[in-house]
Amino acid sequence: MNKSILLEAKNISKFYKDGQVKAVNNLSLQVYSGEILAIRGPSGSGKSTLLHLLGGLDSPTNGTVFFNGKSIHAVCRQRGFRVKNMGFIFQAFYLWQNLNVLENVMLPLMEIPLSRKESLLRAREIINDVGLTDRVKASVKVLSMGQRQRVAVARALVAGPSVIFADEPTGSLDSRNAENILQLLRRVNRQHNVTVVMVTHENISTEYHDRQMQVLDGKIA
Ligand SMILES: Nc1ncnc2c1ncn2[C@@H]1O[C@H](COP(=O)(O)OP(=O)(O)OP(=O)(O)O)[C@@H](O)[C@H]1O
Ligand SMILES: [Mg+2]
Repeated sequence: MNKSILLEAKNISKFYKDGQVKAVNNLSLQVYSGEILAIRGPSGSGKSTLLHLLGGLDSPTNGTVFFNGKSIHAVCRQRGFRVKNMGFIFQAFYLWQNLNVLENVMLPLMEIPLSRKESLLRAREIINDVGLTDRVKASVKVLSMGQRQRVAVARALVAGPSVIFADEPTGSLDSRNAENILQLLRRVNRQHNVTVVMVTHENISTEYHDRQMQVLDGKIA
């Protein structure tokens, strides 16, 4: 594996309530380009907070996150940067209930200069890839949890990001669907060299990650 550093967190903390809650507490880590890093930890240990800080969705109280050596705060201010470079799969999916599968997957593409034809083509290709071709016009409301999670994965992938952040991507799925999602992430990782940072509270098979870290009370255990 290529060991160049894609993301680096240096002594980052996120405090809430005037420091009474230390969700992330002086934590440092590196994410290598092309790897799948699994971050495990119990509920409330700070995993989601950490993932949001790594993806520049939230700013740390202290410390800095670097993306390819540059402060993530600075690079995320460039229009379209996040959409082009990062895909997010959230703990609660965050799909638009009133839009169909295709529309949900196409949403991130509105941020980047692509013709409608090109956007449609890309979105359909990725929907095909996650196995939802026959549901492309279905409203997400009528989809099963496993199908919704696949829509979320497709949306995270559609702009061709270099890194995907996945928060409990299998949390609400049965074991078969969970396995499908993990296989899908591994395939994307191998085929397109996409780096994956994945947060889970349960152990996942070593097939589906290259490195694992444990978070406890906002620190690497
Ligand atoms: N906006 C907020 N305001 C106050 N406290 C917060 C906020 N967000 C998170 N916290 C607290 O920070 C701690 C870490 O929360 P976080 O959501 O990162 O945990 P988690 O490991 O993702 O948990 P889970 O496995 O349940 O999703 C918790 O104690 C939580 O209550
Ligand atoms: Mg969480």
